[in-house]
Amino acid sequence: MIPITKPTLSKYKKYAPRFKEVIESGILTNGKYVKLFEDNASKYLGVKYCIAVSSCTSGLMLVLKGLAVRGEVVLPSFTFSASGHAVLWNNLKPVFADIKKDTYEIDPISIKKMITPKTGAILATQIFGNSCNVAALRKICNKHNLRLIFDAAHAFGSELKGKKVGVFGDAEVFSLSPTKVLTAAEGGLIATNNKALAEFCRIGRNYGDDGSYNTKFNGLNARMSEFHAIIGLESLKNIDKNLKDRLAAVNYFKNKLSRIDKNIEFQAIHKNSKSTFKDFSLYINPSKTGYNRDQLHDHLITNGIIAKKYFYPPLHLQKTYNKFYVNKKQLVNTNNVANNVLSLPLFSHISKKEIDLIVETIKTFYDTKRI
Ligand SMILES: Cc1ncc(COP(=O)(O)O)c(C=O)c1O
Repeated sequence: MIPITKPTLSKYKKYAPRFKEVIESGILTNGKYVKLFEDNASKYLGVKYCIAVSSCTSGLMLVLKGLAVRGEVVLPSFTFSASGHAVLWNNLKPVFADIKKDTYEIDPISIKKMITPKTGAILATQIFGNSCNVAALRKICNKHNLRLIFDAAHAFGSELKGKKVGVFGDAEVFSLSPTKVLTAAEGGLIATNNKALAEFCRIGRNYGDDGSYNTKFNGLNARMSEFHAIIGLESLKNIDKNLKDRLAAVNYFKNKLSRIDKNIEFQAIHKNSKSTFKDFSLYINPSKTGYNRDQLHDHLITNGIIAKKYFYPPLHLQKTYNKFYVNKKQLVNTNNVANNVLSLPLFSHISKKEIDLIVETIKTFYDTKRI
């Protein structure tokens, strides 16, 4: 079996001395490793503040609250549930904008149609690590006085025009769960240049308590433990190599797959940008390929290759969100992409042999279907 992904970790002995030190010190949380991880991450990104939290979900919840967003939040429906959940947890109304058919990013033209006097923020996802059109989003936000927040769960290490994703929004939130290139086992990182927001998030991850025990607001317990920070630090040390290996794997995949069928399409990546390829997705257009995404998915699963239909169903078709969805014509590309994309297994240390096996399994699908 080849899983959809695996974390790329160092040998245990790399972590062991620091784990031992933490156990012996008795300082298991809020200690020097969390601080070091935050400092190293902010240096890497080129952003003033990084706040380590328990997950990207809790980070997004804190950021929306800290920026005092009110009313409606425009976001893509082609994203993971947590983007929308953070909006709902803040008693805000999610308004779904369409995505672009080739890059899968939220479409600025669609966003403009969704803006009302009640709109408070745009929450855009850096989907699969592919950066959004940041300049266009910033322009809309400036015009309508909106907050710009990025769900950058997939995108630690992504770049746009020589700058790291993390520096563009009022805040950007990364996930460090095991499926991400930078992982701390579980966790999240809030990146911002806004001092007041950084302070709010630091207090907010600790129940709203600034240390006085007299809470300032209803915060969360969204702290990161020292053990998670140690895993994150080790992962951060290896991030550039892991990203490079991943890109090489994606290029190897693309080359092999194009030889099977030129009609298999791939996510378009912005010019002057680098994607983390948190996921490597194929777009299967049935009218060109003669088969659909679900058929290929089922064939791969039957053969032990764990491909995933990320992100299907999109948010507006999920039980939690369908009450917010008004006009079916608004999300044409979202429905199209969600129905036709398939993510193949990818991890930073995937071998050529494993990729060959996946490609060979796709080839047998073509042979048996006589396509
Ligand atoms: C786009 C997106 N946002 C948010 C999350 C949630 O991240 P976490 O599990 O760290 O809360 C994920 C998880 O994969 C995601 O894909």
